[in-house]
Amino acid sequence: MRIEKKIAGMRAFVQGARRGGKSVGLVPTMGALHDGHLALIRRSCNDNDITVVSIFVNPTQFGPNEDFGAYPRDFEKDAVLAERQGVSVVFAPEPREMYSDDFSTWVDVEQVSSGMCGESRPGHFRGVATVVCKLLNIVQPDHAYFGEKDYQQLQVIRRMVRDLDLPVDIVSCPTVREEGGLAMSSRNAYLSDAERTAALAISEALREAAALVDKGATGAQAIDLIDQRLQTEKLLRPQYVVAVDPDTLADKSQQGKPLLLAAAVHAGKTRLIDNIRVD
Ligand code: PAJ
Repeated sequence: MRIEKKIAGMRAFVQGARRGGKSVGLVPTMGALHDGHLALIRRSCNDNDITVVSIFVNPTQFGPNEDFGAYPRDFEKDAVLAERQGVSVVFAPEPREMYSDDFSTWVDVEQVSSGMCGESRPGHFRGVATVVCKLLNIVQPDHAYFGEKDYQQLQVIRRMVRDLDLPVDIVSCPTVREEGGLAMSSRNAYLSDAERTAALAISEALREAAALVDKGATGAQAIDLIDQRLQTEKLLRPQYVVAVDPDTLADKSQQGKPLLLAAAVHAGKTRLIDNIRVD
């Protein structure tokens, strides 16, 4: 497995593979790899001749009071995990390789970026869309893999790829969960034992609410159920609970399925997100 830190080297490698008629998959990550990431990587290794995993803690998607400095980083361990899955190249640029001092071009995906996490994290999806656009341009993969756990991010990227005619197929993969149902996240490492136990209520509430919607309830009724369940956990502070259209992410609380139920919840200083689709 090759480790590439430079854009030029990354391009040269992929161009060589393409000349050899090989298909290329890209799995963008910020590292601290867990089973959720590994599921995307395995899928890409199955689908493509060459898999590129990018590991880049992207500074432009973190707000000034967010955890960019504290974000978990363990490159050595990540490289071992990636190699075991059959990854061909890890692309791990330094921030200055990706962002020059006078960097001034941004990708702003309107509408789908505005609600949910976009409300409490201004600029976050602009940073995500910009770095993913750059990674797609550098690697030029046939397929790029994203998790449904970050559902709004997935929709932002799908919309960007459609609107800017980027020549890549976006593949989404189901959320991988810990035993008990908590959605895996690099940020779960921040949780105390008590917070981790309380956080189980998030996926439980979403599952119960989804069953209700499946039986004919509206989004608003589902939101009520989730709110009530989360209130019983003193260690949790919900930031939003929504029922939205799974494609446009527009509010759909007055209607029934198909719906996406999504929540962002603070457990101590850790912000957790989760969602469930009812089709
Ligand atoms: P990161 O949080 O490292 O996630 C990388 C990819 O793994 C994303 O597509 C995310 O949705 C997926 N993922 C994370 N947890 C998952 C889980 N439990 N099950 C399934 N997939 C999961 O998301 C980012 O990085 C960044 O915003 C990035 C897209 C790399 C741009 O910087």
